[in-house]
Amino acid sequence: MLPLLLALSQTLSQTLSLSQALSQALSLSLKLSLSHSNSLSLTQTLSLFSLSSPLHPFLKRHASMRCIAVLSALVAVSSAYLKQMDITDLSAYPSDSTILVTGAAGFIGYHLAASLRELNNVVVGIDSFNDYYDVTLKEARAHKLERLGVVMLNVDICDESMLKTLHARYKFDYIGHLAAQAGVRYSVNHPHQYVHSNVDCFVTMLELLRHTPEVPLVYASSSSVYGKGASIPFTEDECSDRPTNVYGATKRMNELLAHAYNHLYGVKATGLRFFTVFGPFGRPDMAPYIFTDRISRGLPIDVYHTANNEEMRRDFTHVDDIVDGFMRAMKHAAPYDVFNIGRGEPVSVPQFIEMVESALQKKADRHDMPAHDAELMVTFANTSHAMRKLGYAPRVATQDGVDNFVAWYDWYSKKLQTGAGFPGKDTYLPANKMPELLTSTPTEQ
Ligand SMILES: NC(=O)c1ccc[n+]([C@@H]2O[C@H](COP(=O)([O-])OP(=O)(O)OC[C@H]3O[C@@H](n4cnc5c(N)ncnc54)[C@H](O)[C@@H]3O)[C@@H](O)[C@H]2O)c1
Repeated sequence: MLPLLLALSQTLSQTLSLSQALSQALSLSLKLSLSHSNSLSLTQTLSLFSLSSPLHPFLKRHASMRCIAVLSALVAVSSAYLKQMDITDLSAYPSDSTILVTGAAGFIGYHLAASLRELNNVVVGIDSFNDYYDVTLKEARAHKLERLGVVMLNVDICDESMLKTLHARYKFDYIGHLAAQAGVRYSVNHPHQYVHSNVDCFVTMLELLRHTPEVPLVYASSSSVYGKGASIPFTEDECSDRPTNVYGATKRMNELLAHAYNHLYGVKATGLRFFTVFGPFGRPDMAPYIFTDRISRGLPIDVYHTANNEEMRRDFTHVDDIVDGFMRAMKHAAPYDVFNIGRGEPVSVPQFIEMVESALQKKADRHDMPAHDAELMVTFANTSHAMRKLGYAPRVATQDGVDNFVAWYDWYSKKLQTGAGFPGKDTYLPANKMPELLTSTPTEQ
């Protein structure tokens, strides 16, 4: 990249006038600092500017011109920085607060808890460590969270008395609710598990807040609430009463129950409809993980399509964007609302597979399969409601997200191969962590 830029600089400096060259320098440095704003420090960006500037050979000879160029670089870099700060305006997120994250040993809960902790919040993470998929991955996440200073507890969200005890002790300022039985396919044969965790226990969460309705609850809903007849892209005011699977039905039920509790008791509840989330520490039952795992081990992958060979398209969304939307929704604390949190740019599954192939530098052995009737052929988020109300703007390009996920997969599989174990889920039982919790009497708030 840099040699190419240098060659370009030299050519430009020979052909452009001084003013043209200055404006080229400014715009090039702006572009560079913006495109690298996530990964480069100010000094790195400045030195990149001086190397990539079209004036580079000219500046070497003229000291006064160097001053002007440095000044213009500073203007460019500071505006890039201001712009970047604008995007990640930290005041849009909760900080210095006490927050309960349910499902914290899960994929999204882990990322949310880690980010909230980084913002100087006291974070209590609970999870029942169920064995829907390999518990080792949940233990790995819990271990990382504990090292970040999150209080991790092996607690079931259906344990009303424990939830009351925790709320009485910590007096949560926010609750991020991610614990649920996830997965569309699994819900076909295990409907009761979904109704139990996602409906019964959701009511337990709402009951917890009935006496402290001012504490904002942000919970995970899903793009699965949209049925097959939904217009594309999906918008929140779509009727959504025709889900194609039990999982989607339980998520829609959450939104309806949240509405009832808001109406009756003023509970502040915001539902976020996530769209195919992927990223480091991602779920082993989801396509990004399955594709990466099987392609890298030389195993065939199933690729689903309709009877008339229509490709499936998914609005793959990187977990960093999901967490950004989640924290914005927490701080926004709407009395009642529902938002699509997706990327808003669906990618066909074969295209996604090509991205994985490119990250792995390995070709997939694809097996075409007819799609299950429970699955939607396309998911596509209209995110304008979240953009308008929350300032949500997804930033992670799909290929970048895939590269990031594959790098993590590589790290994690090596970790597993070397047998590096993580503390077991029983480590986090309240009896082992906070025996005093079990003896204290919860006080009603
Ligand atoms: N990952 C996605 O693409 C996606 C898309 C739409 C919605 N969602 C929703 O987002 C939330 C988080 O999803 P995820 O991908 O992180 O899933 P996940 O399965 O990795 O995380 C859920 C966690 O909740 C825990 N849990 C389940 N039942 C529990 C209970 N009764 N008590 C305590 N903990 C319990 C599980 O052990 C798990 O660790 C879920 O509500 C899911 O339905 C996820």
